[in-house]
Amino acid sequence: MLQQINGHGSGSDAHGGETLREDLQEFLGGEAPLQQLDDLTKVNPVTLETVLRCLQARYTADTFYTNAGCTLVALNPFKPVPQLYSPELMREYHAASQPQTLRPHIFTVGEQTYRNVRSLIEPVNQSIVVSGESGAGKTWTSRCLMKFYAVVAASPTSWESHKVAERIEQRILNSNPIMEAFGNACTLRNNNSSRFGKFIQLQLNGAQQMTGAAVQTYLLEKTRVACQAPSERNFHIFYQIYKGARAEERVQWRLPEGAAFSWLPHPERTLEEDCFEVTREAMLHLGIDAPTQNNIFQALAGLLHLGNTRFADSGNEAQPCPLVNDAQCEGSVRTSALLLGLPEDHLLETLRIRTIRAGRDQQVFRKPCSQAECDTRRDCLAKLVYARLFDWLVSVINSSICATPDSWTTFIGLLDVYGFESFPNNSLEQLCINYANEKLQQHFVAHYLRAQQEEYAVEGLAWSFVSYQDNQPCLDLIEGSPVSICSLLNEECRLNRPSSAAQLQTRIESALTGRPRLGRDRLSPEPSFIVLHYAGPVRYRTAGLVEKNKDPVPPELTRLLQQSQDPLLKVLFPADPEEKSQEEPSGQNRAPVLTVVSKFKASLEQLLQVLHGTTPHYIRCIKPNSQAQAQIFHREEVLSQLEACGLVETIHISAAGFPIRVSHRNFLERYKLLRRLRPATTPGPHGPCLDGGHSEWPPCAEPAMLQGLLQDILHALPAPLHCGRTKVFMTDSTLELLERRRAQVLEQCARHIQRGWRRHRCRTQARQRRAAVLIQAAVRSWLTRKHVQRLHAAATVIKRAWREWRIRMAFLASEELDGVEEKHSSQTSCSPSSSPLPPAQTRLQGAITRLWPLGLALANAAVGMHGFQRKLVVFACLQLPVGSPRSCAVQTAQEQAGVLSIRALPQGSIRFHCRKSPLRYADTCPGPSPDSVTGFNQILLERHRLGHV
Ligand SMILES: Nc1ncnc2c1ncn2[C@@H]1O[C@H](COP(=O)(O)OP(=O)(O)OP(=O)(O)O)[C@@H](O)[C@H]1O
Ligand SMILES: [Mg+2]
Repeated sequence: MLQQINGHGSGSDAHGGETLREDLQEFLGGEAPLQQLDDLTKVNPVTLETVLRCLQARYTADTFYTNAGCTLVALNPFKPVPQLYSPELMREYHAASQPQTLRPHIFTVGEQTYRNVRSLIEPVNQSIVVSGESGAGKTWTSRCLMKFYAVVAASPTSWESHKVAERIEQRILNSNPIMEAFGNACTLRNNNSSRFGKFIQLQLNGAQQMTGAAVQTYLLEKTRVACQAPSERNFHIFYQIYKGARAEERVQWRLPEGAAFSWLPHPERTLEEDCFEVTREAMLHLGIDAPTQNNIFQALAGLLHLGNTRFADSGNEAQPCPLVNDAQCEGSVRTSALLLGLPEDHLLETLRIRTIRAGRDQQVFRKPCSQAECDTRRDCLAKLVYARLFDWLVSVINSSICATPDSWTTFIGLLDVYGFESFPNNSLEQLCINYANEKLQQHFVAHYLRAQQEEYAVEGLAWSFVSYQDNQPCLDLIEGSPVSICSLLNEECRLNRPSSAAQLQTRIESALTGRPRLGRDRLSPEPSFIVLHYAGPVRYRTAGLVEKNKDPVPPELTRLLQQSQDPLLKVLFPADPEEKSQEEPSGQNRAPVLTVVSKFKASLEQLLQVLHGTTPHYIRCIKPNSQAQAQIFHREEVLSQLEACGLVETIHISAAGFPIRVSHRNFLERYKLLRRLRPATTPGPHGPCLDGGHSEWPPCAEPAMLQGLLQDILHALPAPLHCGRTKVFMTDSTLELLERRRAQVLEQCARHIQRGWRRHRCRTQARQRRAAVLIQAAVRSWLTRKHVQRLHAAATVIKRAWREWRIRMAFLASEELDGVEEKHSSQTSCSPSSSPLPPAQTRLQGAITRLWPLGLALANAAVGMHGFQRKLVVFACLQLPVGSPRSCAVQTAQEQAGVLSIRALPQGSIRFHCRKSPLRYADTCPGPSPDSVTGFNQILLERHRLGHV
């Protein structure tokens, strides 16, 4: 859980009593203490007073962020609160399953936008509009959000992409000190007031990693270079070089310590922004090397010296104005020319003499300028150089941080524009700044307050209209058509007619009479008009408005700068003959002039177009007091800011409304899978259609059918959804619920797929195993068959040999047994048998025929047995008498099959006869030996006899 960042931990004794009191109050009042209300929609009743009390209670408790429906209210602490912006806290918000349940913070908004990009819900691109008056904390907030994205949008896995994000993050963050040094200044309302508008586009790739950024700036208040209001300062960078330059640089830039510059008011005041080293470091990181930096600072020093150039009245129109007669002034021109790389006399001449082209043949006339004109030309030169330098820096920053178009797909835009301003003297700058704020407020009103409520009505939702302050009339007054303040100012520029401030006031009043937002200060000694802005009335002086709107740049000045020898100025003012410098309009030249107001209006339109294409998020910065003091909450000041931004109306609409609106089709496409949550027994009436992909949608699906499908989902998931005619309306919590369930279903589906895949894999493996077994069996059977065939062939050979042997043996035996027979027959002459062979011989032959092939085959097969074992086998196979070992002897080969020899004692003989086995004998001794009549056949007879005894 989130740490107690305000130090009001529940465990401390000091706060024990307070907690008890709060609990008691909650119990008695039935309501949570005000400072615990994270969302202003929970304040009861929602009024300015209760909202103010809640904010005050939270501010006192050091809780600076509060939700207000669709917006986040950010109170400026005006003191460092480091633990509120630590990287650990950023990660905590990023890792939270529901950041909305954590304490309100700008990181919640940051995380929400980041998740929106990831969810790819249209519009995917996001924008965060940070608004509030000057000094409310917009720039601070944008900076913190940039840091947040740099932390969370970095890839944690890939070192390489992390490195890129680091680099990009570092570069993007480094762009801040540079832009603030050159574009911020100390004003009456803010020590670090942005004098330009800024839209930062943080570019993300498909994996939502930050790959780059692009900065778009709006209307720098360049007048400040040459003219600072009392108690205000010039841009920070001038003070930085003035105070931070090293000794040798001071010499080089002609900035001796203690030197006075009229364009450098209040140099004695030191702000925390006067940090030259930080700016240098940042420039170095963004690729601006030391010599270029040196060049830039030298040119800025040149401008400071230019500011010390003062002209006296010549008293004669035909004579150019002389310089004020003092050494410092003369030295300033020389130094300025030197530092800017310009010829001194050429600079002086350009400042003092104006060239006019007149007549048909555009004859050139040289006319000395008046003292005021000289001053204007000097200021114009400084503004021109500074504005070009600022634009150049922005382009350098962009080229350093911008990603290639194909490396990013989505973006999160951060808008930090100058806050609403009202000074004692307001001019065109304030008009533009306040106009921009009106436009942004209108974007909010149009997007949220008006459009949302109108949509409820159109969609047929039961809705009681909440009235709100629409600033459209004020915008009509400033920029409307056909007549508005802008159009009148442009008209004055276009006609180029001499008009005094009073005349302009009269023209504005008469042309815009009856406009509700136009006022007049009758007590004001100066010609002016009042615009009743949404944030309060502002009085604008008409003096100098037209001139500022024209922003004329005498072509001689541009030509002069193009001739500069300074390398930087050569880049800023390329000597391009094609370059169009704004020619001084002559009397007959009535072509439309590109005025400051028209350019600003165009850039604002462009910005709003970008914003309209994104999902906007709003952060309202509130300034608790105008003294920039911590712990001070001025109720009146805060009240006026709350009123101005229409916070109460916002809360009302947010509390009762549905900030999320999704078209039926998009809703179904995204959440149709939630129908899987419906029990299987109750299929929806439109089930089959939903199971198909996007392509299966009928192009002109009946709304009723869509409704039916929608009802199916709603039945499956009872959530507080409101179904309009074309859209589904819901609250953030409902969206969260839907998203959660969707994630569950997707997870389920993933599990199904995994299960199916595993089953498939098991089945495949089992099949493969079976197939392998089958193959093995087939191979084995084939091998066995082969083996058996070989055995068979061997047996055939044996059989053949055996038959031959048998015949031979039969022949031998018959020969040998002839004598036996005779002997036998002589001994048994009375035998009744009349057969040619006696019965014993017949049986012997039969035995030989029946037993020996088998016995020999078996004896032959006893391979692997050796020695006595083998002999035993042979004995067993041939059924030799084992009991009388001396009657016969068997010899076997050790490693071969078969029997080498069988030897046996001849019957009735005391002599020992050794005879080869019949096989060996058959193989090796084709002819009968003298002893061959005994031996083996003897064995057979012996065995046979034994068998029959
Ligand atoms: N969250 C914060 N924590 C601490 N200090 C803050 C915070 N927000 C703002 N501040 C302080 O308030 C000052 C003014 O804030 P910031 O410059 O952001 O105002 P801004 O709204 O941008 O004003 P402007 O419109 O003039 O540019 C900062 O310089 C800083 O000192
Ligand atoms: Mg700012």
